[in-house]
Amino acid sequence: MTRCALKNTEIIKKSSLSVLKLNTFETSKKITTIMPETILVIGACGQIGTELTMKLRDLYGPDNVIAGDIREGNETLMASGPFEQLDATDLKAIEEVVMHYEVDTVYLMAAMLSATAEKFPMRAWNLNMNSLFNVLNLAKEKKIERIFWPSSIAVFGTTTPQNDTPQTTIMEPSTVYGISKQTGERWCEYYFNKYGVDVRSIRYPGLISYKTLPGGGTTDYAVDIYIEALKEQKYECFLSENTALPMMYMDDAIRATLELMQAPAENLTIRSAYNLAGLSFTPKDISKIIKSHIPEFEITYNPDYRQAIADSWPSSIDDSAARKDWNWKTEFDLEKTSKAMLNGLKES
Ligand SMILES: NC(=O)c1ccc[n+]([C@@H]2O[C@H](COP(=O)([O-])OP(=O)(O)OC[C@H]3O[C@@H](n4cnc5c(N)ncnc54)[C@H](O)[C@@H]3O)[C@@H](O)[C@H]2O)c1
Repeated sequence: MTRCALKNTEIIKKSSLSVLKLNTFETSKKITTIMPETILVIGACGQIGTELTMKLRDLYGPDNVIAGDIREGNETLMASGPFEQLDATDLKAIEEVVMHYEVDTVYLMAAMLSATAEKFPMRAWNLNMNSLFNVLNLAKEKKIERIFWPSSIAVFGTTTPQNDTPQTTIMEPSTVYGISKQTGERWCEYYFNKYGVDVRSIRYPGLISYKTLPGGGTTDYAVDIYIEALKEQKYECFLSENTALPMMYMDDAIRATLELMQAPAENLTIRSAYNLAGLSFTPKDISKIIKSHIPEFEITYNPDYRQAIADSWPSSIDDSAARKDWNWKTEFDLEKTSKAMLNGLKES
């Protein structure tokens, strides 16, 4: 829906929305802790944004969740609620949408991911940093109340302990993307300490999903492998067979995001970004599981420039702070993830 079209229905929308918010709040036992709010998701059409926006629309009502992106998303997303074409580096454009819809919470998902960022370092820096400053400054000026901004395991580097990487440890990222995420974490903590901005963040591991394709990350192989296994019964992997990386199924990542955002502020001890563990596996591990479902499946290895990025990241993550502060618990192991991916891809 365009902004003009929305203006015409604004009065009806606002009155029906308050009823909807109230109903949601009063009738569903499971979500009684959810405060009524209006949400803007920037980068809503990407791998995470698409599923996050749909889930938020389920919880808060479709018209209370505005999808914003520089490009349009898939049909289901576009048909499910309001959409605003919006550049995350354009403060004025974000502010206009925030004021128009009376947005309380922004989920900033727009970014340039690890593999693409190595090709366009300055563009990545500009997008990843300026978009974050834009929303942090809107919160500092009290134009929005809450921010979710994702960090990544890319904040770690070769000098970080690789196994069970602690929450607080050496962080010397060697990629443009990792440097932007580590810097972003520092600014989030600074805005919380200095200006009381309620910003929350997670260091997502590599995310596995079938509904929207990944957008140029180093862990994309863990999605491509299922697609190619079903289509061609073979896959050439761009990482070597024993490269273990932290990963997570999308449903777990979305649930983690919502649980963190719903957690009472006083329980949160970390305002940079929480470590989040899900799975840790190698291409060889995943290929064995796929073979147990598709016996003809064959994998070959041809590592490229992404191997060096993967080698600089941890193999597994210690997420005890997330478990302690907001009761985080993973639900999807590799077998359950593989079944969900293969079944989901067959049906889509
Ligand atoms: N997917 C992962 O495995 C993973 C892991 C760790 C962290 N993250 C982080 O999560 C966030 C979302 O990741 P994703 O995988 O969904 O990325 P993605 O590339 O799939 O989606 C990003 C979205 O942002 C949009 N976008 C790009 N430039 C924009 C701009 N200037 N203005 C508005 N929108 C713009 C794109 O059109 C796209 O829809 C990013 O911050 C990413 O760094 C992702």
